[in-house]
Amino acid sequence: MAEPNDRFIAGDEHPEDQIDRALRPSCLQEMIGQNQIKENLKILIEAAKLRSEALDHVLFYGPPGLGKTTLAHILANEMNVSIKITSGPAIERAGDLAAILTNLHAGDILFIDEIHRLGRAVEEVLYPAMEDFCLDIVIGKGPAARSIRLKLPHFTVVGATTRLALVTSPLRARFGATYRLDYYDQAALIEIVQRGAGLLNIRYNDQGVHEIAKRSRGTPRVALRMLRRVRDYAQVRADGEITGPVSRAALDLLNIDHMGLDDMDRRVLLCVIEKYNGFYNHRSKNHL
Ligand SMILES: Nc1ncnc2c1ncn2[C@@H]1O[C@H](COP(=O)(O)OP(=O)(O)OP(=O)(O)O)[C@@H](O)[C@H]1O
Ligand SMILES: [Mg+2]
Repeated sequence: MAEPNDRFIAGDEHPEDQIDRALRPSCLQEMIGQNQIKENLKILIEAAKLRSEALDHVLFYGPPGLGKTTLAHILANEMNVSIKITSGPAIERAGDLAAILTNLHAGDILFIDEIHRLGRAVEEVLYPAMEDFCLDIVIGKGPAARSIRLKLPHFTVVGATTRLALVTSPLRARFGATYRLDYYDQAALIEIVQRGAGLLNIRYNDQGVHEIAKRSRGTPRVALRMLRRVRDYAQVRADGEITGPVSRAALDLLNIDHMGLDDMDRRVLLCVIEKYNGFYNHRSKNHL
């Protein structure tokens, strides 16, 4: 049966990403790259387990597709707790957040994606919830109104954002650990594509995988999306194996060049070169 606060829980990832979810690493050991973050998380998890405490609040930030949501799920798996998923824009009113918070159990993870988009009134409720594990609610209206303080179980907020600068500083200060995810190097991307191909039972050789990794712009989501498109091409136009020539032909046909730039990227770059003398001022009101 649906829980009462289900309507405030954001829908799952992008519909195209059903396979993506199957490919998503489920524990730290399966996660490729981001070694320093993994090392830090291992310590955080082990310490919390040793003390039988809930994990401290964790904030992940960095460009899209690098593994923030993945890490939130991994934390829940490693801690063996359940995870409730929501996002900043999905929590419209303070009451929505109160409903979510009162349904949490001790140790649970509340994953708030796009946390920079939380409304101010909602944030005000989140502060004492994160810091003191309590919820202040006002009952009644006018002179009869009174405020009561509810105790909440010790839970963990895992926040994710692509725009750290837009997270207010009081909110940022309430996270016990903040990690920046960086783009992946070529070796890690190759491993990610190989792992994906293995899970999808795709035949491949080294050159085929290298070609995909090279064009994926340091981003696992892009690498795995290309892998699926190249797999389509290999099945329809070749014998199913992802080889160097197959990868090249498939990605060329998609207009993805050797640097991973697509049509729109090239048009933006051309525009910057031709109309702005190669100078792009992000503060200018006249930019693209
Ligand atoms: N280190 C990794 N190893 C293997 N696969 C990975 C890794 N990191 C990410 N992925 C894959 O890339 C996809 C995108 O990752 P994820 O959804 O966690 O990114 P995100 O940082 O949350 O992106 P967004 O900011 O757009 O929400 C996932 O489906 C996952 O399968
Ligand atoms: Mg995400």
